[in-house]
Parts: sequence; C-alpha cells; structure tokens
Amino acid sequence: MSKLRFRALALVSVAIFTLAACNSGTNEGSPTPASPTATATGTPAPTPTSTPSATATSTANATAAATTAPPTASQPPSDTAPPVAPVTILSPVDKDHALPPDYVPPGLAAIPPAYLAPAFGGELRREAVDALALMLDDAAAAGHDIRARSAYRSYAEQERTFNYWVNALGYDEAICVSAMAGHSEHQLGTTADLTSPQVGWDLLESFGETAGGQWLAANAHDYGFALSYPAGAEDVTGYCYEPWHFRYIGEAEAQAWKASGLTLNQYLLQP
Ligand code: DAL
Ligand code: ZN
Repeated sequence: MSKLRFRALALVSVAIFTLAACNSGTNEGSPTPASPTATATGTPAPTPTSTPSATATSTANATAAATTAPPTASQPPSDTAPPVAPVTILSPVDKDHALPPDYVPPGLAAIPPAYLAPAFGGELRREAVDALALMLDDAAAAGHDIRARSAYRSYAEQERTFNYWVNALGYDEAICVSAMAGHSEHQLGTTADLTSPQVGWDLLESFGETAGGQWLAANAHDYGFALSYPAGAEDVTGYCYEPWHFRYIGEAEAQAWKASGLTLNQYLLQP
C-alpha cells in the first residue's frame, strides 16, 4: 500500500473513530460510530496498515481458498443471484449470495455493555450474544480485553454504510472492505466486529497481530465463531483481510469449519 493510501485510510479511520466517540447510539458496523442510523456506520475499517493481502500470512484457509475461484475482492456483488431462502445461521452470504432486503433475524438481543467497546452498542441473535459473552469472558481471563464494536446491521443500515465507504474511499476500495446491502453477514444478526484497546478500539489489520487478535483466531471456533475473511484469501472471499469480523455458526459447525481448512463460505457452500 502506498504511503499516500495509508495516510488516507488512517485519516478516515481517525475521523470515524471521532464520530464514534460522539455517538451514543447502538449498533454500528465497524470502523464507524456507534450510531446505526446517523452516519455510515458499520463497516469494516479499512486498515491502515499495509495492503491486506500483501502482508497477509498465508493460512490454511487461504491455501484452500487459493484453489477456488472468484469472486475477487475487486469485483462487485452479483445482482443476478436469487436471494438466499430460507435464511438460517448457516446461510452463505457473500458477493454471490444475498439476503432478502426485508430479512430481519429473529431473537435479536442487546449485547451487554461489558462486552461493547466504549460508546458503542449493538444487537445479535440471542444465541450469538450468549456465545460472545462466554468467549469474551474467557479471553479476559486469558488477559485479553476484547469487545464488540459492531454487530447486527439492517439492510438499510448496510446500504448507508456501503455508501459511506464509497464516498470515503471510492468504489474500487469500498467493495473490498464493505458489503453492498443484502450481501453483509452483519444482516444475519450473528456477526460481530471485535476490537481491543491495543488498537484504540478501531478495526485495523494490526488487530490480527495483537495477542488478543491471535487468541481469537486460535480459539473463536470453540465458541462457535468463524473468521470470515482471513488473510491471503481476498480473491476467494471477495473481501480484504478482516481479523475483527467473526460470524457465529454454532460450536459444532465452527469446529468442523476450522478443521476443514476452507474459508467460511467455501465450507457453508459444500454440497
Ligand atoms: N465488512 C464486511 C465485508 C461487511 O460489510 O459485511
Ligand atoms: Zn464485520
């Protein structure tokens, strides 16, 4: 990543963090503020470190992924794909699989403040909140203060989020870090963006290098969570590396996914 691009992303991140600090609303997405409504919350923070793929360590997931095909991180979602139905916590959601615009997950529950980054709020399906609490309690016991910065986002909120990033970064960059409305796992109500004070509660690639980020990468599957966008798999997942974005699929499925060495959607799309 060029120094110029790095600076631009860093500035965006700082601006968003400032907005977040001024918001007391709930929900959001990622690098953004807590308010789901106001700003373009929610998105995965473009990471100000080097290029996602360039520095990415090749993981088992990435290796498996490399043998598969598109979508690529530079491609937009497919508008021709029929909406996923019926929607379950195991439904594939990516650039080729969209959720219905009116899909709202059942049983949304507020994430308790103890598990939220300062000034942020959010909701997930009840079972995901419970699993998240268990995971973050164990992380804390292991010495890692990790909390959620964003969680459920409605179709409309995702639309605002994506548009925000297009305005901030340009379309080509935005489609690597943010999903178009209907194509975000956040709409499932099972997905959270996690962060820590080590990265200023922001959503940065460098989170993956922190002890907390590494603890999550090594243990999240035991609590039912999967890292959707691993390093080095951008051409398979369609998105830049997001060490903060974890989707709940249940403990047994997450353990099977981890053992498979596949990216999450490769795993979910297996016959
Ligand atoms: N950051 C991920 C791709 C999302 O917007 O859902
Ligand atoms: Zn996310």
